[in-house]
Amino acid sequence: MRLLITGGAGFIGSNLARLALQQGHQVNVIDDLSTGYEENLEGLDVTFVRGTILDEEAMGSALEGVESVVHLAALGSVPRSIKDPVATHAANATGTLSVLEAARAAGVNHVIVASSSSVYGLNPALPKSEREWVRPMSPYAVTKLATEQYPLSYQQSYGMRTVAFRFFNVFGPRQKAGHVYAAVIPVFVDALLAGAPLPVNGDGSNSRDFTFVGTVCRVLLDAAERRLSHPEPVNLAFGTNTTLMQLIEKIEVTAGLKAEVLHREPRPGDVKHSQADNAVLRSLFPDVDPMSLEQGLSETIAWFKEIQS
Ligand SMILES: NC(=O)c1ccc[n+]([C@@H]2O[C@H](COP(=O)([O-])OP(=O)(O)OC[C@H]3O[C@@H](n4cnc5c(N)ncnc54)[C@H](O)[C@@H]3O)[C@@H](O)[C@H]2O)c1
Repeated sequence: MRLLITGGAGFIGSNLARLALQQGHQVNVIDDLSTGYEENLEGLDVTFVRGTILDEEAMGSALEGVESVVHLAALGSVPRSIKDPVATHAANATGTLSVLEAARAAGVNHVIVASSSSVYGLNPALPKSEREWVRPMSPYAVTKLATEQYPLSYQQSYGMRTVAFRFFNVFGPRQKAGHVYAAVIPVFVDALLAGAPLPVNGDGSNSRDFTFVGTVCRVLLDAAERRLSHPEPVNLAFGTNTTLMQLIEKIEVTAGLKAEVLHREPRPGDVKHSQADNAVLRSLFPDVDPMSLEQGLSETIAWFKEIQS
């Protein structure tokens, strides 16, 4: 199968490209390198289109020979969206529509998209099932609602086969630290290895459902191979619940280093707790065996040490 990965030079996309090639598939990538890195694809035999998903022509060439699209291109980060909601809307909401329209024009009838647990926002239910109400707390979360709802509506409107996954906190190799919008695990690991204090927003009691990137990519590839279509969003996480302070402890144990913690003000738009109900995921992917947080942290720390050496 030839797969198009939008945002394939990013963290999840470049891990997915590796896995798809290992499994004998062909891979096209479109990425404008706004937050991704060409070096993430170094040594991989992918057809790379450098361009934005908003460009019809670039999307047309990226879709050549493609049977299935995994749409990951987006501007991530809640704080980025609070700073510049229009840019986030353009890349994520208009961008998703643009990918769907390009797929429709090219006769590509299968699209998988990446939504986010941030859509639950103010809903306090735990764990969060897909039937729970959504109430986004940031422009980013609103654009992720559009990212999931457009492709679901295309099932009815155009008979397109689509799946909308709600990712929770994905982590692993190639998720970089060192930029203002970096995610929590790379920030912590990078600081610990550098002997710097670990910045914690709030008191550290916020909790997250962390999923290793390899597990996420296996689910995405399986969905592409099976041309899976599902009428409702699907949580892509396994129902674990780790506070930031517990996470720090696990990172300390895995790295064999003691951390110094620096508490900062809580960030606006951040949800307090996030934990997935994974019943739908388990019913669609009964064989998936998620990597544990400990094992995932060990692989992540090993990757950080490798790039720093
Ligand atoms: N990492 C997580 O924990 C997480 C959680 C929830 C949802 N998601 C979603 O998963 C997807 C992938 O996330 P990631 O962590 O790999 O992020 P990432 O920033 O590493 O990757 C996104 C990629 O999209 C590219 N991109 C952005 N705008 C583009 C545009 N207009 N045209 C072409 N390419 C563009 C970037 O250059 C980057 O390479 C995103 O849609 C994100 O919203 C991620």
